[in-house]
Amino acid sequence: MSEPIRWAWADIDLDAIAHNVRVLRERVAPSELWAVVKADGYGHGAVDVARAAVGAGAEGLCVALVDEGIELRKAGIDDPILILSEQPPEAAARIVKYELTPTVYRRSFLDALAAEGPKELAVHLKIDTGMQRVGIHPRAAATMAAEIAQREPALLLAGIFTHLAVADGDDAASIKFTDTQLAEFRKVYEQLPAVPYVHAANSAAALARPDARLSFARAGIAVYGISPGHGVDHLCADLVPAMALRARVSFVKKVRSGSCISYGLRHRFSGDTTVATIPIGYADGVPRRLSAVGGEVLIGGRRRPIVGVVTMDQLMVDCGDDDVNVGDDVTLLGSQVGPEGHRDEIRAVEWAEALDTIGYEIVCGVSKRIPRVPRRNIEL
Ligand SMILES: Cc1ncc(COP(=O)(O)O)c(C=O)c1O
Repeated sequence: MSEPIRWAWADIDLDAIAHNVRVLRERVAPSELWAVVKADGYGHGAVDVARAAVGAGAEGLCVALVDEGIELRKAGIDDPILILSEQPPEAAARIVKYELTPTVYRRSFLDALAAEGPKELAVHLKIDTGMQRVGIHPRAAATMAAEIAQREPALLLAGIFTHLAVADGDDAASIKFTDTQLAEFRKVYEQLPAVPYVHAANSAAALARPDARLSFARAGIAVYGISPGHGVDHLCADLVPAMALRARVSFVKKVRSGSCISYGLRHRFSGDTTVATIPIGYADGVPRRLSAVGGEVLIGGRRRPIVGVVTMDQLMVDCGDDDVNVGDDVTLLGSQVGPEGHRDEIRAVEWAEALDTIGYEIVCGVSKRIPRVPRRNIEL
């Protein structure tokens, strides 16, 4: 693996992915664990993540888009791939050709799939038990299952599933809502003919709700070592973040007390200091607002504040009296060991909290411009 040409990249620790999959499999056993690798593996690189996950025992994979499934097939991955929502009818031919498993909930999509003349194409029926995003109403599930049966042997109902809206919440209202969703779902699948797969759990439910694990858990964010939310933080201690966002210092200068920096000149220095420029910006997925909410990076194992607004391709860091040089290692996300051996770490959830979002958005937001460098070197 050649080193990236630009001085900003994401290390993707495939041992961490494999470790997290093993941890999750142990938790959900005897249920299976299917790894959700949509959105380019939550920004980590879908093909590498899928291989690592399957290598660690994941029994299947889930994607959001047909093209995401095709990318995995073209990479030689022949494990089951479930597409989590219905796709445009014109995608039906490719779903059949690449042996992807479609989710269904509308008759017209069944027709589009059956028209391709597949032989026993496994489909999963999605039931909306309260998320109110996609899926068939529980009362219409039996009719839809019958519609699928009418299209045998072209289509086969292989799975029934639902998606939980607040499985990461540990407050009474969230727990009650999840209870209700699962009860509603149980009523549906118990009245339908038995199918090979019945599934409901995302990462949060895989960790917190044994009653949601069923045939398999569809785990996304936990595979990447990130907690799905505060309500389940205490169940994530064994997970290891797989992405580290790194860079090198590209420019160093002394600045004077009272001077200002970056667009809008919003940050004024209160003393003479040393400023390092880092060649990564909001077009790479470092949110522009990060400096305004106390964003920091690690240089020499120490936290240093981002100063001034993050620009499209670069950001600036106040290094105080530190001896900082062009080429020095910078960690934006991940851990770093300083020269005196002390280690510090910045996690995606730290950015997320400061920016009032979730860890998912942070890692998915690391843009295509950032090379992903697969590694296998963590100490667990
Ligand atoms: C239907 C479905 N199942 C499972 C997942 C995985 O969720 P998580 O990343 O919280 O594990 C997602 C992700 O959004 C999803 O849409």
